[in-house]
Amino acid sequence: MAKELIIKDLHVNVDDKEIIKGVNLTIRQGEVHAIMGPNGSGKSTLSNTIMGHPRYTVTSGDIIFDGESIVGLSADRRARRGLFLAFQYPMAVPGVSVSNFLRTALTNIRKGDVTQEIKPQNLDVQGDRPLYEKETTKAKVGGDGANIDRKKKEMLIKPAEFRKILNEKLALLQMDSKYTKRYLNDGFSGGEKKRLEVLQMAVLSPKIAFLDEPDSGLDIDAIKVVGSGVQALKGPEMGIVIITHQQRILTYLKPDFVHVMMQGLVVKEGGPELADQIEEGGYAWIREEFGLQVTAEEEREEVELNVN
Ligand SMILES: Nc1ncnc2c1ncn2[C@@H]1O[C@H](COP(=O)(O)OP(=O)(O)O)[C@@H](O)[C@H]1O
Ligand SMILES: [Mg+2]
Repeated sequence: MAKELIIKDLHVNVDDKEIIKGVNLTIRQGEVHAIMGPNGSGKSTLSNTIMGHPRYTVTSGDIIFDGESIVGLSADRRARRGLFLAFQYPMAVPGVSVSNFLRTALTNIRKGDVTQEIKPQNLDVQGDRPLYEKETTKAKVGGDGANIDRKKKEMLIKPAEFRKILNEKLALLQMDSKYTKRYLNDGFSGGEKKRLEVLQMAVLSPKIAFLDEPDSGLDIDAIKVVGSGVQALKGPEMGIVIITHQQRILTYLKPDFVHVMMQGLVVKEGGPELADQIEEGGYAWIREEFGLQVTAEEEREEVELNVN
């Protein structure tokens, strides 16, 4: 049966200020949802909270995945259960290659939630071979079963198997393999960073994936590549939530459901036609319908749009 992520009357504080003010959403494997909304409406706050970013505090409500509340779980445990977030602003990690990062991440995801939580003291960094788990954390193999080379005490997926998966996903996303030897996001262009987020999603094949503005800062061609890339990953095993400001990427990745967020609430929901209405009329008509005042952040955004 399709696994469900249920967000129930969720309230979230950042630094003691309430940002999310009672959001309800249900996302199932196989569905594509779009969350749209102006700047500052709480879209990133919502996705970071679902993924377990420690800065965001759930003050009431619940996040339930596959029948279990995940609010108290660390981010890595949420990832091991099959949740994924592609960041709006991916971070560069010089010294860690894309390939090693992905191999380590996939190994851990495959093991499932049977190991100790990831803490700095459980990790070992050896030059360009990052995040090898120390032997002491040797855990039972769970999930799909990681392919562990016990002789070498290397607890990572075998290179040949990993290479096969990686090449398959690179081909699917029309990406060059030279990309994977570079350090994570180090010196990457905006478009390359966003494609790398999608590559991560492809390799880890999460059950529910959030993509936070994968189109922001990209030109029209790059939006097409990213949108079609995500569309190519779509399938019955993956629920996709695409957070976006603009309708364009949704022409390549058709959503089943569209939710509009404003000022910490989901104020309107519908099908793909709602995205088209926003493309035509912006957000002002929805704001009016709900008697919302324009916030300072929204005002700044409109000034910026008029300047451009
Ligand atoms: N770390 C933070 N500290 C203080 N305020 C924050 C923080 N993150 C977000 N906010 C505030 O929360 C609101 C929602 O922000 P955000 O979730 O980033 O919106 P969106 O992603 O929709 O643009 C904004 O008013 C923003 O200023
Ligand atoms: Mg955001």
